[in-house]
Amino acid sequence: MSEYYSFYENLRAMGPMKINETWLISRFQDVKTAFEAPEAFTNDKTTPFFAYNSDIESYSYKERFAREVLEKWINHTNNDVSHIKNQLTSQLFSYVQNDMDSCIENTLKSILDSMEGDTLDYKKDIAIPVMSRISEGVLGISQSAKTSQFDELLYKHADSVSFLREEVYLDKTMAEKFADSLLYFLKLGSDFTGDYDVFDKEEYDISNFDIFQIQQSIVFSAMVFNTVILLCNTIKILIENKDKFNKSELNKAILEAIRLESPIQSTLRITKEKVEIGGVNIPKGENLILLIGSANRDDEQGKLIEPDSFKIDRTRKPIMTFGHGVHACIGKHMSLRIAEIVNKELLYNNNASLVEFEWDKQLKGHRDLQLLKVKLDSKISIT
Ligand code: HEM
Repeated sequence: MSEYYSFYENLRAMGPMKINETWLISRFQDVKTAFEAPEAFTNDKTTPFFAYNSDIESYSYKERFAREVLEKWINHTNNDVSHIKNQLTSQLFSYVQNDMDSCIENTLKSILDSMEGDTLDYKKDIAIPVMSRISEGVLGISQSAKTSQFDELLYKHADSVSFLREEVYLDKTMAEKFADSLLYFLKLGSDFTGDYDVFDKEEYDISNFDIFQIQQSIVFSAMVFNTVILLCNTIKILIENKDKFNKSELNKAILEAIRLESPIQSTLRITKEKVEIGGVNIPKGENLILLIGSANRDDEQGKLIEPDSFKIDRTRKPIMTFGHGVHACIGKHMSLRIAEIVNKELLYNNNASLVEFEWDKQLKGHRDLQLLKVKLDSKISIT
């Protein structure tokens, strides 16, 4: 068990705590309260992002681009969340309904057919290629437009968007990394047929992209990055606990696995007014970290039994792994379906077993496996 989980336990015993200028919100009920009141606990990061450096002339082209995008995105998110979420949701839904299962099955089949030996680097060999093929499918990217390093690049760029959940201030390095990644994803979504490695610096102007394209790019990078982590965390926990559930209980087991090892461990909020949470008064304008990984180990009464054990018959819902309330994740069902198909094949047709693993020592916004080697007994049986 991660040492962070005992830190979370101590935090829950104390309630909301201010450490290093930031409030840590650890109890299930307090995290739920914050998610359910977006008008008081906003995820609008405009103020700190833009107040950080008011000397706009000192910004590089890429930094300016990143800031303009964020401003446009955040303002839009505040004004009209449901409209854009609905459009994106139907784009995903149509793909899930029509093409997703066969895309995953074909991808797994070709990976396993070309496998040498019986041990895989799970993230690189399975999770990233599966998510790359899915994002190509959703965005309609043609095979011919891809470079040979497409999968690697896609994952590298997907990573940069995660800072939105982890950082309160946007510095130059992060802004430039974010700008590069955003351009990459914007190109993916716009019938781009050129070289994905090369960005012509001054060619891009924020006004060339509409808000839907921007939102879509941010969403798809989150889709790749978070679902890759979800696939890794679930196979690890499921292999370790395979004797505690049967094949027909796989979906319940996946939910329990992501309660225990939530791919996203925390998310940021800022108080828009004076609030009271968990019996503590918090002034306007304070930064809050909602600890999803901690809320998942708690319940309304603070009495979740054996929170660090894998038990598929827990009754408390919802877990906070996909957020909650108006900003809850639109990719929840898609990610869970991907996890179901991949895990079923690997656990039951290939008798997957763990060879080696290592968690990323740093637990910031994500709970991520740095190393995950998995052994397969037989070749995949998808026909
Ligand atoms: C198909 C893949 C995915 C897509 C398309 C997707 C998309 C989104 C979008 C658009 C939002 C923001 C909603 C808003 O602000 O109103 C969101 C929120 C969220 N997503 Fe996902 N997501 C995906 C996968 C995942 C995965 C695998 C996880 C973790 C297991 C995850 C966890 C979250 C969480 C915790 C939030 C809430 C963040 C907050 O309120 O601050 N997502 N997702």
